[in-house]
Amino acid sequence: MELKEKISKIKKEKNAVILAHYYQRPEIQEVADYVGDSLGLSQKAAEIDADIIVFAGVHFMAETAKILNPTKKVVLPDLTAGCSLADSCPPDAFGSFVASHPDHVVITYINCSAEIKAMSNLVCTSSNALKIVESIPKDVPIIFAPDKNLGKYIIQQTGRDMLLWDGSCIVHEAFCIDKLLDLYQDHPGSVIIAHPESEEHILKTAKYIGSTAGMINYVKEHPKEKFIVATEAGILHEMKKEVPNTILIPAPAEEDNTCACSECSYMKVNTLQKLYDCLLNETPEINVAEDIRKKALTPIVRMLELSK
Ligand code: 13P
Ligand code: SF4
Repeated sequence: MELKEKISKIKKEKNAVILAHYYQRPEIQEVADYVGDSLGLSQKAAEIDADIIVFAGVHFMAETAKILNPTKKVVLPDLTAGCSLADSCPPDAFGSFVASHPDHVVITYINCSAEIKAMSNLVCTSSNALKIVESIPKDVPIIFAPDKNLGKYIIQQTGRDMLLWDGSCIVHEAFCIDKLLDLYQDHPGSVIIAHPESEEHILKTAKYIGSTAGMINYVKEHPKEKFIVATEAGILHEMKKEVPNTILIPAPAEEDNTCACSECSYMKVNTLQKLYDCLLNETPEINVAEDIRKKALTPIVRMLELSK
């Protein structure tokens, strides 16, 4: 029996649901019950009524699913599926930072650990960050963490003066502006679209800036354009399915990057075989200490309420 069939069979037997992010390998996206961006995956995780949630994504995503739906068993195909952005915000250092600014509201991007979420007033994703920040009265100071690039983009869009944590995503910082501009010249009439985790000089070239789901929708709405796509290359799988006749070119990364485009090595540690193994063995399991879970739940629920 093929691996895909074995996954489908065992999934039914164990009453499991597979959630996958758009950056996962194509073959993983194909076996998933739901593929989405961070907001969509959180909304889905909160309402799942199966016994097991297999999270084909990175650790903070599986952890968020467990926070939202604690009675379900949440498994992640590979426990080393981390995130440079989440790692750039250690709880001790962030705790001291927050304590030294007691008058500030703390908004954290979902790409952080449960401990960081537990210190937050609100969580946001790239698809609702502007809305979440604008929900705070203008005279209330804000700490925004951990992504400084998304933070700078929000400041520029809203005019809010936020205190930023110095974190970033290695994948979105790998884009090479010179190569991008050369590529743009080589493809007259092309349109650059970018994820807001990218640096300011990349975002300045983009006609559309948004979350992975936002970028896919934008391409769907403009199928006759030719796109240069500045985010993790895994998104091209879903985009190609949605607009098979549209030219989609991944934005180029620096020379020393492992691939010509930007690939997230954390997202790519998950394989179809590991997905099957984790369904079979129901491990590695993701758990969150109950005191942290309860504290982290409040800002996530506030985000979901504001995103309705
Ligand atoms: P979104 O899919 O929410 O845009 O997030 C992108 C990302 O970097 C996830 O790690
Ligand atoms: Fe983290 Fe960046 Fe990978 Fe997303 S793409 S999981 S932000 S390292």
